[in-house]
Amino acid sequence: MKYNALKGVEDILPPDIFLWQRAETVAKAFFSRYGFSEIRLPIIESTDIFIRSIGESTDIVGKEMYTFPDKAGRSITLRPEGTASAVRCYVEHGLNNLPSPQKFFYTGPMFRYERPQKGRQRQFYQIGAEAFGSEHPSIDAEMIVMLNNLLSELGLKEVEFELNSIGCEECRPAYKASLTDFFRNRLDEYCPDCKNRFSTNPLRILDCKVEHCIELRQGAPSVTDHLCADCRAHFDELLLRLGLMNIKYTLNPNLVRGLDYYTRTAFEVTSQHLGAQKAVAGGGRYDKLVKEFGGPDTPAIGFAIGMERLIALLKDSETAAAPVPKVFIAALGEEADRQAAVIAEGLRRQGTWAELNYAASSLKSQLRKADRLGAEYAFIIGDNELKDGIMQWKNLKTGEQGQCSLKEPASVFNK
Ligand code: HAM
Repeated sequence: MKYNALKGVEDILPPDIFLWQRAETVAKAFFSRYGFSEIRLPIIESTDIFIRSIGESTDIVGKEMYTFPDKAGRSITLRPEGTASAVRCYVEHGLNNLPSPQKFFYTGPMFRYERPQKGRQRQFYQIGAEAFGSEHPSIDAEMIVMLNNLLSELGLKEVEFELNSIGCEECRPAYKASLTDFFRNRLDEYCPDCKNRFSTNPLRILDCKVEHCIELRQGAPSVTDHLCADCRAHFDELLLRLGLMNIKYTLNPNLVRGLDYYTRTAFEVTSQHLGAQKAVAGGGRYDKLVKEFGGPDTPAIGFAIGMERLIALLKDSETAAAPVPKVFIAALGEEADRQAAVIAEGLRRQGTWAELNYAASSLKSQLRKADRLGAEYAFIIGDNELKDGIMQWKNLKTGEQGQCSLKEPASVFNK
């Protein structure tokens, strides 16, 4: 019986894994500069958490969640994203009692039962950041600047920041009313999902990916024309600050994001190199969610980067540099093989990557293996060398060679 990974679920192997590790290391370094601490959140949560936050009218909750009863009959969901868990965690641990804003980041797999295609998996990884406790546009600007700098440090060039403000409880009702009027005219021409959205949450129609719905909604009222004075001022201050920091962005009044919890600032980072699934990161404010989860009124903002899409973009411009062994020890004879293992262990204890052959074979085949592994040095030990307490070495990059004491193998490269 031969098994394959599930559809839309991928193994991440060398050499790609080295790109993943580099991206994670750079991201973590950026987060710590801006005061974000890591949190580890569970992969399973009560289903309610996601319904309550992401919203019943969204595709994620409506169609894409991996939901199942556990053995006690509780409804459990594999997290489709990290924000809902972060909010649950913030409230559960009373983190609002600590100085604001509290800033966190997380990494890990998310699960959405979507139709797999390029850039869209059923299990995918995110690196996310969330900041709780400030409604000031300075934190919106800081998060966008941090994301921008992080992506450019990683070497991503042609990405675009799309920005919108989707208003608050004050301005949303009037906007929804004018959207409803607009959609009502040709409602029978929209897809069945949009007809549903019309009664549950007409804003979601702006997010529909069906070609005909996209055409139909041309000329729909724009949310930015309906912002209340406070939301307008908040958004203007954000744009001003981004200008001060030389961050380039595009205003996209149709950007509503695929999750219902957003208020005010919403943004996405897109790349034309990604094809249909062009968002490499997305985020925004969710000022009402902490309260909705039973905590005190606490504004918050965050974003998440899709790791697979990030890595796909990195792969366009660089190949993953796989680390290589410093030393390959070729041994000829049983006793030499034992000594090779002792020498390798000594080198490893000093922090050097040393490889062995793990089988008796000819010198030629062992050196071929050293080459294939990309080892920098080959050490060669045979019975004669053992007697004399020495071994031969060769720098496989330069061809330089010589001999050294068995007791001081590291002296070859620690000159
Ligand atoms: P999201 O836009 O749903 O936002 O996901 C963020 C990123 O995850 C996307 O831009 C994309 O790169 C990646 N992504 C989403 N779905 C898939 C998929 N099926 N396959 C591969 N990559 C995918 C959120 O998840 C919010 N929690 C972000 C946030 C944090 N908002 C505030 N705080």
